[in-house]
Amino acid sequence: DLTRRKLLPAIYSLARDRLLPEQFAVVGYARRPYTDETFRERVHEGADNYARRKPVDAQLWERFGPSISYCQGNFGDAEDYVRLREHLEKVDAERGTRGNRVFYLATPPSSFATILKNLREQGLLYDEGDERHSRVIVEKPFGRNLETARELNTAVSTYLREDQTYRIDHYLGKETVQNILVFRFANGIFEPLWNRQHIDHVQLTVAENIGMEGRGKFFEEAGILRDIIQNHLFQILSLMAMEPPVAMEANAIRDEKVKLLQALRPVDQEGFENQVIRGQYVEGSVGGTEAAGYLDEPGVDPDSKTETYTGFKMFIDNWRWAGVPFYLRAGKRLPKKVAEFAIHFKRAPNPLFRNHLPQGTNQNILVVRVQPDEGISITFDSKVPGPSMQIHPLNMEFRYGEAFGGAPPEAYERLILDCMLGDSTLFIRNDEIELAWKWCDDLLDRWAQPETSLHTYKAGSWGPDASDELLRRDGRRWRRP
Ligand code: BG6
Repeated sequence: DLTRRKLLPAIYSLARDRLLPEQFAVVGYARRPYTDETFRERVHEGADNYARRKPVDAQLWERFGPSISYCQGNFGDAEDYVRLREHLEKVDAERGTRGNRVFYLATPPSSFATILKNLREQGLLYDEGDERHSRVIVEKPFGRNLETARELNTAVSTYLREDQTYRIDHYLGKETVQNILVFRFANGIFEPLWNRQHIDHVQLTVAENIGMEGRGKFFEEAGILRDIIQNHLFQILSLMAMEPPVAMEANAIRDEKVKLLQALRPVDQEGFENQVIRGQYVEGSVGGTEAAGYLDEPGVDPDSKTETYTGFKMFIDNWRWAGVPFYLRAGKRLPKKVAEFAIHFKRAPNPLFRNHLPQGTNQNILVVRVQPDEGISITFDSKVPGPSMQIHPLNMEFRYGEAFGGAPPEAYERLILDCMLGDSTLFIRNDEIELAWKWCDDLLDRWAQPETSLHTYKAGSWGPDASDELLRRDGRRWRRP
């Protein structure tokens, strides 16, 4: 599904943007009995439906199509990798690819080690100093908890050097996520405010209106914490909250992200139920269409306790953020698809306008909308024209679409290209993954205890009441993006 809907359309789009060299080829390797021809047709169909610019350009396809071929094989069968090696050697000879390779493991993590072992045995993963390069992109989920992530890191490092390993999180390929660094560190006016002196609290949201879409079985094993928070939301958090890196370079940036993750305060076990809310959707309606409850989705255990929503409060114990609450939430079947973070600044100390402010609005908020309608907005108060002193909150808006025109490239386009160029800045290092799991493990352990609450929420609502209560107790409320 990922290969057809995202990866191959992304490669096609790179070809269309003329970002691929002439000496280039795509080889599919899987169990299904495709031929070169039927595999090509699948790629064509995927690009036709899902590429950024559709339909497929017939002229381009004449050149791109023949670069695609297929090798059938099992992940665990050593013999099959002999055929894969021969296939790749043939492609090298025909297309002049000179042995340089990117392997993309869009497979279950349980197969990573076997695949790498076999690739290594066939001499397809090169040692340091080899003038050819071999790199491996590894899809999420990278483990289910700290222990399994460590095991995977160990297994991967048996066959690969860290600089050959590209752990992907497609959120890092989104333009708006990359822009967090530019916004913060290329401008002089925001960074002085970006700390506990000026910020009251921060809210991070990744909301989706879709339900399971046939992925019920997968989601049962995952839950929203593993599917969204541990990776996508923590990546946004790291970039928005980390210290300035010493250089715009892969390890410098990743070092800062690691420091930030090290500073996450473990969740307080005593106050757990008040700080961490997990929820599951029941029947409701999303955007005017009826939606089944989670337990009625195909592939879901009718007694499932898997969370489709979580909202929680966390603290970052470092100099910059001491005492500033961060509220994070993610969920399926919420009213809309939106990913954003919102910085709520402290109120102005001046009591001058106390009697003129509408209740609860007088706060400066800076919102970075990761998607959709990508942009940045700042809310500030303004005088309503007229003889009396009336104050009204206004928005100052920047919209990518308006400023730059056109849709930004798909995240996977950027990331696949970066890997080909050997730039790992937007990929995740082993220590980052482990630290993110370390924090999440406390939640997973607690949720494994039968007495921990599982709240329900109606499909199409903004999550369980308990989650609103979490902020209300602090005198705050969730934004309604
Ligand atoms: C994936 C999750 O990583 O991200 C999905 O497995 C989720 O459950 C998807 O729907 C969201 O990605 P995007 O780019 O649509 O926000």
